[in-house]
Amino acid sequence: MPVPSLTDYSSASLDCFFREILEQFEREAALARSAEAVEDLRIRWVGRKQGLLNRVGEILKLAPAEARKEAGKRFNALKAAIEPRCDPQRLPPPQSADGGLRLPAAGAPSLAAETIDVTLPGTRRRLGAEHPLIKTMHEMVSVFAAMGYSVAEGPEVESDYYNFEALNFPPNHPARDTQDTLVLADQERKPLRERLLMRTHTSPVQIRTMERRPPPLRIVVPGKVHRNDAADATHSPIFHQIEGLCVDVNITFSDLKGTLDYAMKAFFGSAVKTRFFPSFFPFTEPSADVQISCIFCGGKGCRKCKSSGWIELLGCGMVDPAVFLSVARKQPAYDPEKISGFAFGMGVERIAMMKYGIGEIGQFYSGDLRFLEQFA
Ligand code: DAH
Repeated sequence: MPVPSLTDYSSASLDCFFREILEQFEREAALARSAEAVEDLRIRWVGRKQGLLNRVGEILKLAPAEARKEAGKRFNALKAAIEPRCDPQRLPPPQSADGGLRLPAAGAPSLAAETIDVTLPGTRRRLGAEHPLIKTMHEMVSVFAAMGYSVAEGPEVESDYYNFEALNFPPNHPARDTQDTLVLADQERKPLRERLLMRTHTSPVQIRTMERRPPPLRIVVPGKVHRNDAADATHSPIFHQIEGLCVDVNITFSDLKGTLDYAMKAFFGSAVKTRFFPSFFPFTEPSADVQISCIFCGGKGCRKCKSSGWIELLGCGMVDPAVFLSVARKQPAYDPEKISGFAFGMGVERIAMMKYGIGEIGQFYSGDLRFLEQFA
């Protein structure tokens, strides 16, 4: 191609001149399908001595001073459009007549120059899955959500007041011994109730939520708790609980029994039975432990239920008036003469171990994919 002539250097003539050159290049580039053809294209267009771009440059050099800047700018743009496409390393992918991608024939020259094989399957990223503890928490929470409970949360670093005192564990009360925990350092100058510790249960969230919201209240509280317990097959110094609290007028022990019986059936299957045993917690009166019929033997007696046919699963009770009184200082609607409520608390690990037949609590925290993948 002879480089088109340029009679004057007006903007319109420059437009025309550059457009013609680029169109010519496009026609030639479209035909250059092999590494050799692209190399020929390179020599013809950007070759050091004879290259067409050099000739274009020579023509533009003749531009009068006032058109130089404009001509130079366009020349640079032209080079930027042409040069990269004259690199044999960067062959365009072969195209079929309809524009779709087509496999090059075996041994076709273009294959050698391919750097990316677009026909290879993509990198498959493995989907993450819920950890069995989180999964158990979600399942249990949704059983209660369906009964109108909402989810509440609270801090893991808790004050002595919320973790113990407001829940009717007075200072030095022996019930505190069952829930020994780590305390934060250097707090000796603070009054006891303000000292911070790692919460030993999710029950303090009962107090925090009642202080913020008047009755009626129905909440579940999933969360992590800490205790000074030696680790063994069924204990871990850090574990998880789900707390529940229901407060309204005329809430009775029958409501508690009905709610938990329904929840256990929804979670473990409708064949499961529940029974309630007297127990003690400082913040409930009366208190009970809930057992479910053994899900492994159906209640006949097996190794898992130590031949009793029953498995102990959670603690519960009617909210102690002393608890309402500590809340009533901030939220007077919690008047134990007018309202009543029930509460319950369960260990997530224990429930997940039962449900999935896991024998070692440590498996949950091992991060071992061979274990975790089974719940995906
Ligand atoms: N907070 C108790 C614990 O960690 C569990 C518990 C028992 C919670 C009875 C409750 C309840 O809300 O009513 O041992």
